[in-house]
Amino acid sequence: MPVAIEATDIRKRYPPDVQALDGVSLEVEAGTIFGVLGPNGAGKSTMTRVLCSLTRPDSGAASVSGIDVVAHPDQVRRVIGVVGQKHGSDPDATGRENLTLQGEFHGITGRELKARSAELLQRVDLTDAADRLVRTYSGGMTRKLDIAMGLLNRPQVLFLDEPTTGLDPDARTEMWHDIEELAAHQQMTIWLTTHYMDEADKLASQLVIVDRGRVVARGTPDQLKRELSGDTLVVELAEADDGRARAALAGVDGLSEVAVSGRTLRARTDDGGAMVPAVLSALEGHRVPVASVTVARPSLDEVYLRHAGRAFEQAQSDSAEVPA
Ligand SMILES: Nc1ncnc2c1ncn2[C@@H]1O[C@H](COP(=O)(O)OP(=O)(O)O)[C@@H](O)[C@H]1O
Ligand SMILES: [Mg+2]
Repeated sequence: MPVAIEATDIRKRYPPDVQALDGVSLEVEAGTIFGVLGPNGAGKSTMTRVLCSLTRPDSGAASVSGIDVVAHPDQVRRVIGVVGQKHGSDPDATGRENLTLQGEFHGITGRELKARSAELLQRVDLTDAADRLVRTYSGGMTRKLDIAMGLLNRPQVLFLDEPTTGLDPDARTEMWHDIEELAAHQQMTIWLTTHYMDEADKLASQLVIVDRGRVVARGTPDQLKRELSGDTLVVELAEADDGRARAALAGVDGLSEVAVSGRTLRARTDDGGAMVPAVLSALEGHRVPVASVTVARPSLDEVYLRHAGRAFEQAQSDSAEVPA
């Protein structure tokens, strides 16, 4: 399979001391959706910007469609489409005007531009809204326009940085459908960053999980989940653990990888159902009040926890919102 994106040991530090990328290496097969999953602040946008030639890495090498992103940024920009985390459109112009502007930026003009804009508006289902100001669009419509703008120059590789963040559930589902269509029918390579586990699971054929500027796991969603055989036992405590819950579970045979994060306690076990009584009685013996117990098949969240050593939601709340 031809390689669409290749990166080797990319590092990027923001002064004075934020190591946004700490040696990222990855390879993306052409024609696939590649998921980059990680909490806020993991380095997803920085990595995206490096690959799009918008940010220079401090060290390391990267190429897109075989073109070195540092040596030939102009060539790279011709073969990629970029949909940034922030909206790329002008709210005081119509959808069609935004596409026209973007087309002119790429040197597309006249009849070709008109036809291409109309075709893209159709594809993202914005034909009826094409001549309305973008500020009257819903979040989902604005995101669709962003994608249409990213597609104008018929890119080989499309970069989508958190395309569904902030969308309501219906708009997200619709966006997932659009992204799948693009990959299936346009044979485009799609780089998709997200902090939603379910999105990576559903869309990506290969993915990396990133945390604090590093790749902590990689593979297909199924491979990553298969790594964890058996069940995950999740205990919601009535209050945050003061150490007693962990101590109680340390004495239970058949549990491994016991992890506590706030009120949530997780452990791996071969047979979750059979372990529930032993776990409950151990907690009761240590006077730890329990709110609920569930037995779950491994999720990407579990994979993340195993590799990054903390739960995904925890990582989300550890990192402040990042101004892009
Ligand atoms: N322009 C910048 N200046 C300083 N620090 C930055 C800048 N952009 C991002 N960062 C920091 O780099 C880290 C990675 O950010 P980012 O790549 O935006 O992560 P993500 O997209 O995964 O949320 C964060 O700690 C963030 O605060
Ligand atoms: Mg980001």
